[in-house]
Amino acid sequence: MELNDTLEHQPQASGATKKVFVKTYGCQMNVYDSQRMSDALAAEGYLPTEAIEDADLVLLNTCHIREKAAEKVYSELGRIRKLKAERARDGRETVIGVAGCVAQAEGDEIIRRAPVVDLVIGPQTYHRLPEVVRKARTGEKVVETEYAIEDKFEHLPAPARKVVRSRGVTAFLTVQEGCDKFCTFCVVPYTRGSEVSRPVSQIVAEAERLAEAGVREVTLLGQNVNAWHGEGPDGGEWGLGRLLFRLAEIPGLARLRYTTSHPRDMDDALIEAHRDLPALMPYLHLPVQSGSDRILKAMNRKHTAVDYLKLIERIRDARPDIAMSGDFIVGFPGESDEDFEATLRLVREVTYAQAFSFKYSPRPGTPGAELALQVEENVKDERLQRLQALLNEQQKAFAESLAGREIDVLLEKPGREAHQKVGRSPWLQPVIVDEKAGEIGDIVKVRITKAGSHSLFSEPV
Ligand code: 5AD
Ligand code: SF4
Repeated sequence: MELNDTLEHQPQASGATKKVFVKTYGCQMNVYDSQRMSDALAAEGYLPTEAIEDADLVLLNTCHIREKAAEKVYSELGRIRKLKAERARDGRETVIGVAGCVAQAEGDEIIRRAPVVDLVIGPQTYHRLPEVVRKARTGEKVVETEYAIEDKFEHLPAPARKVVRSRGVTAFLTVQEGCDKFCTFCVVPYTRGSEVSRPVSQIVAEAERLAEAGVREVTLLGQNVNAWHGEGPDGGEWGLGRLLFRLAEIPGLARLRYTTSHPRDMDDALIEAHRDLPALMPYLHLPVQSGSDRILKAMNRKHTAVDYLKLIERIRDARPDIAMSGDFIVGFPGESDEDFEATLRLVREVTYAQAFSFKYSPRPGTPGAELALQVEENVKDERLQRLQALLNEQQKAFAESLAGREIDVLLEKPGREAHQKVGRSPWLQPVIVDEKAGEIGDIVKVRITKAGSHSLFSEPV
């Protein structure tokens, strides 16, 4: 039996078990962080609950990447204020915490604007969460947003095997955090700090743990994941390509992915991994943001549109069936009609299987927010609509191109209908599969019959 299994069965000395409700906004790293926070709190006797009204501790794990993300948090805090008052009438204490990127960016401003909040904790200090919660329970308001000197991952408890199992056959694993690129639109270097890579040994140990608990597919996470580097057991400097080869050796792990990448950090070893490593799924999220060199320069992306197109050509030479995914921003300050047309041209040239596009949102403290020539809202709206129409068309065409093909599907969960299971294609699409095709966690071959709007349908081979 493992240490964490023991902890799970022993309510803390402090008395009856308490409950924690965690709500996650934003990116996959926040999803991962929320799990690690839950794991840290489980060791303190807090059991997770899906019902906010039952929670003794409510944690909002927030995102600051675009305007609406933070606004949603403040309106949620308004609702929570009522809930806390109701529980107080019944004599029940409720601790309210704000974590994540809004916490890091706004600090004690959050408590000023929403006095219902008892604790504010930034992403670099999650390992101190149990202590922060204890302090908040004494009635003190706690704001913990300093960058910690100690390695938070070293101090965050690993989840119990049973807990990993309950989370399913796919998992996230943060290998890198923070960013040194300073794109002029982006708040991440300020909320997540400068680039830090986790050591190989820590990553391998965590991946082994996941595999032992039945995880078949791991997605390595980092704001700039392909900038990950570390010292290998051989004493040499490893990059992400090398790390992927090592992880593929772990028994049980059948599929690997990584996200999000910067075009400047796609090195030869990583491209070779796409060529030579069957476990590395043929899907790559490689944001370009804009197709105009003028805008790319203003964004401080440090590459041109042609650099990006050439890079994709090299990646496709290495792995011809790779599907591309990307992020785009329309209406960056100074973006003209011509600049926007260049983005549409680039999209037509690349052809994306999946993409995410956003209207530029000025983030306080970033250079982009200070630029003159902010683009009018209605122009942004119109550009976003045109871009999304094109991207949707490409996404649909990609899904439809799979009809009639035999593909490998990782079975993830029961389907909505009793005779179905839901699996995941190599390109991250949900696939509806016959229930008898196999057990959850199996990778089975099916033939795609047709593409629906959100998933693929299949028949047994
Ligand atoms: N405004 C709009 N979109 C943004 N993104 C990042 N910062 C901003 C911003 N200020 C988008 C980028 C990035 C994705 C995660 O969010 O496309 O790749
Ligand atoms: Fe949002 Fe970026 Fe923070 Fe993720 S890292 S939660 S995308 S601001």
